[in-house]
Amino acid sequence: MPQIDIRQAFDSPTVLYDAGGHAVYWLGINEPTAFRTNTYLIRDGDQTILVDPGHRAFFQQVRDRVAQILPPEHVTGMILCHQDPDVAASMTDWLEINPDMKVYTSPRAQVLIRHYGRNDYAYVDVEAKPELILPSGAHLKFVPAPFLHFPGAFATYDDMARGLFTGDVFASLDVGMRLWAEDFTELRSNMRLFHTEYMASNIATRGFTRKLDGLDIDILLPQHGYLIGGENVRLAIDWLARLPCGTDLIYPDLSC
Ligand SMILES: [Fe+2]
Ligand SMILES: [Fe+2]
Repeated sequence: MPQIDIRQAFDSPTVLYDAGGHAVYWLGINEPTAFRTNTYLIRDGDQTILVDPGHRAFFQQVRDRVAQILPPEHVTGMILCHQDPDVAASMTDWLEINPDMKVYTSPRAQVLIRHYGRNDYAYVDVEAKPELILPSGAHLKFVPAPFLHFPGAFATYDDMARGLFTGDVFASLDVGMRLWAEDFTELRSNMRLFHTEYMASNIATRGFTRKLDGLDIDILLPQHGYLIGGENVRLAIDWLARLPCGTDLIYPDLSC
């Protein structure tokens, strides 16, 4: 992947994949903190889906990026990997633009996102319908990521782009302004900051990596920090499988 200075990429969408009628974009968000968030857009035929649209404070910015691709009211859905405000708070703004927009999320997140102020939207339960086939023939597969960090968290695998939208999993905290992770040692220390405190336990991380067996993954697309490609994909998955975190560290004498 060509490295990109994200300060120069905030003015326009960054294409991560575009072939066969299926495109994936990174949209930003321009927030100069170590907790900066990533919003993505999948465009496929008459289906256009936002992945983790973000906090309301950044709604206008994300909307402007979307408008450079298509009219924002043509966005047909949003995937909310869990209910946290940095992921989902702008859902009400998007529903103002298009009340028919589908909301793809898990049942546990669904009971909470209604507290953002609307409950009149088209909710799609990703556990009951774990696969979405898009007009190009691409499949989106919803992969549960229980207790990483939310009990109902999930990732989304795009089999055409061979990308995994991972939500908070593989999030890295850093003020670096590069789009892609480079040195794995550096990435690992930036991921460790977040994962040891937010993720539930090694059973949860190991169980999730087991669910990824059999998926051809070229890129990991987390909701915070660096995008991960190349050899860092396998290194990051192997690292996550071995990581002690959460209750392993808080109650070391109780760990199995
Ligand atoms: Fe979160
Ligand atoms: Fe997050």
